[in-house]
Amino acid sequence: MGSESFSHITHLIPHISTMESHIKDHYNSDHLTQNIKAALIKAGKDLANLEPKDLSPIDQIHTGGARSSIELFKKITLSSDAKVLDAGCGIGGSTRLLAKQFNCRVIGVDLADKFIEAASFLTRCTKLENLVSFQQGSVLDLPFENNTFDAVLCQHILMNIKDKPAAAREFFRVLKPDGKLILHEIVKGENNSLHLPVPWADKSAISFLESWDVMSRIFKEHGFKINIFSDQTESACTGWEKFNAVSQKKPPRPNPLGLGIIFGSNAKSFGKNMYTNFKNNAICLVEAILKKSYDK
Ligand SMILES: C[S@@+](CC[C@H](N)C(=O)[O-])C[C@H]1O[C@@H](n2cnc3c(N)ncnc32)[C@H](O)[C@@H]1O
Repeated sequence: MGSESFSHITHLIPHISTMESHIKDHYNSDHLTQNIKAALIKAGKDLANLEPKDLSPIDQIHTGGARSSIELFKKITLSSDAKVLDAGCGIGGSTRLLAKQFNCRVIGVDLADKFIEAASFLTRCTKLENLVSFQQGSVLDLPFENNTFDAVLCQHILMNIKDKPAAAREFFRVLKPDGKLILHEIVKGENNSLHLPVPWADKSAISFLESWDVMSRIFKEHGFKINIFSDQTESACTGWEKFNAVSQKKPPRPNPLGLGIIFGSNAKSFGKNMYTNFKNNAICLVEAILKKSYDK
């Protein structure tokens, strides 16, 4: 891949399936970039001088927010000439954090065009566009050549992927030999009753949770070795409990920054539902670092 791929946004519209189109519709919303811009201004942020941490109330669309990403990135090493893919990057929160922490180039890919537009806008505001770029696309058909990336980050996206073997195949294909696959994912627990809406689904038709046992088997069958694994469910429970306690206190001034900008009124139920789902063992949170390995 030439360095040009990192220097501009690619506007090619990928061919996507009907299921992917339903998932894209779940995340896309009209005027997202303008709404984020207005909320940042309302919150008193200077758009010409934003730090990635200014964006963490809105750009970390996963359990544990920026704190969990920072903790996860402490477990990896990347050199400044590394190329990293943030697969299903959302509006680029972790794409920017990774680039800033390792001073390396990171490209984010996401199905949702409105997310790609917002991610690119926020990256310009944080002056990281020399390291970070975005491209619309699907992890089931990644627009990159074989052996391109030193690492792939896959953070809270597999819950939307029905065909997990296809994603595993694509991650394996685009990683260089010995490349790392960094997983931070919600997986299925032992109880089937998922309270909706949750951030990845407002209806069960677009939620494809799978247990870690099944997922780890799929990755191993596709040539990955699991180097590090940890079950983070307990800390996820505590995190959502704290989130709910803070949300219930009336702040002195309403905070214009929150996931409501992206998910509308559904976001009001996320804290309660996520806590209940973790507590009821309907979902678990896992972190894992896998290595592309040839001895399948
Ligand atoms: C819960 S969000 C997580 C976003 C980001 N990884 C984060 O942690 O902030 C899930 C993201 O996966 C994206 N996504 C779902 N299916 C995808 C696919 N097949 N290819 C690329 N992105 C996908 C969605 O558009 C959404 O941005």
